[in-house]
Amino acid sequence: MRIVLLGAPGAGKGTQAKKLIEKYGIPQISTGDILRKAVADGTPLGKEAKSYMDKGELVPDSVVIGLVKERLAQDDCKKGFILDGFPRNTAQAETLDGVLAEMGMPLQVALSVDVDLDILMKRLTGRRTCRGCGQMYNIYFGPPRKEGVCDKCGGELYQRDDDREETIRKRLEVYEAQTAPLIDYYQGKGILKRVNGEGDINKIFEEVCRILDEATQ
Ligand code: AP5
Ligand code: MG
Ligand code: ZN
Repeated sequence: MRIVLLGAPGAGKGTQAKKLIEKYGIPQISTGDILRKAVADGTPLGKEAKSYMDKGELVPDSVVIGLVKERLAQDDCKKGFILDGFPRNTAQAETLDGVLAEMGMPLQVALSVDVDLDILMKRLTGRRTCRGCGQMYNIYFGPPRKEGVCDKCGGELYQRDDDREETIRKRLEVYEAQTAPLIDYYQGKGILKRVNGEGDINKIFEEVCRILDEATQ
């Protein structure tokens, strides 16, 4: 299964991707996660990326495209992959198509997770993530059993640096201007599917699986 998850910040791309990894045993390639790890490790890449991420702007294409190419070339991607947060603009989408064509593994589905704008702010300000296993929680919609502690691995929960209100507003603006046009891009390629991303996470996941199974059988 070779798919792209599209959707605004807070739509639930990461949340659904984590469940897809468990069910289908294919890797998630999240450029946001890769960049946050580089920032945490203090690598040169992380230092370059941080200034963009803190402002809610896109990191330059040359940087993220390199990361994704490198990741796609790894062996575990041969059985499929879930791209999450990439591509983010038309240039990235076009480059990706070229790279995957060369590798003989074209995209099968671009799935847009649709959520109303006014829900996104609350989802993002309430998000908490596990430092250990990456599991996401939400203090408003899906809190952990014990405050600040991961249910799955006991790890510490943290709040992302870019989940501050001003930065969230900028990220939503950048999404509308640069990423939302990809819905038309993939519609034009005939591989766009959409799912309603509001409501119970497990119900959404059932629908996501139904759509993906049907489109990739
Ligand atoms: P990235 O990490 O990709 O962030 P994003 O796109 O802003 O998306 P999020 O991770 O915020 O949202 P999500 O859809 O994954 O939601 P989640 O599942 O966590 O990018 C961060 C930055 O990195 C960018 O701003 C940019 O600077 C840089 N970057 C990354 N990729 C790049 C690229 N390709 N090019 C250039 N720059 C790039 O859910 C959110 C919350 O909602 C959680 O608390 C969750 O528990 C909760 N939730 C989920 N589903 C539900 C539900 N159904 N009901 C209630 N709550 C829910
Ligand atoms: Mg995410
Ligand atoms: Zn954990």
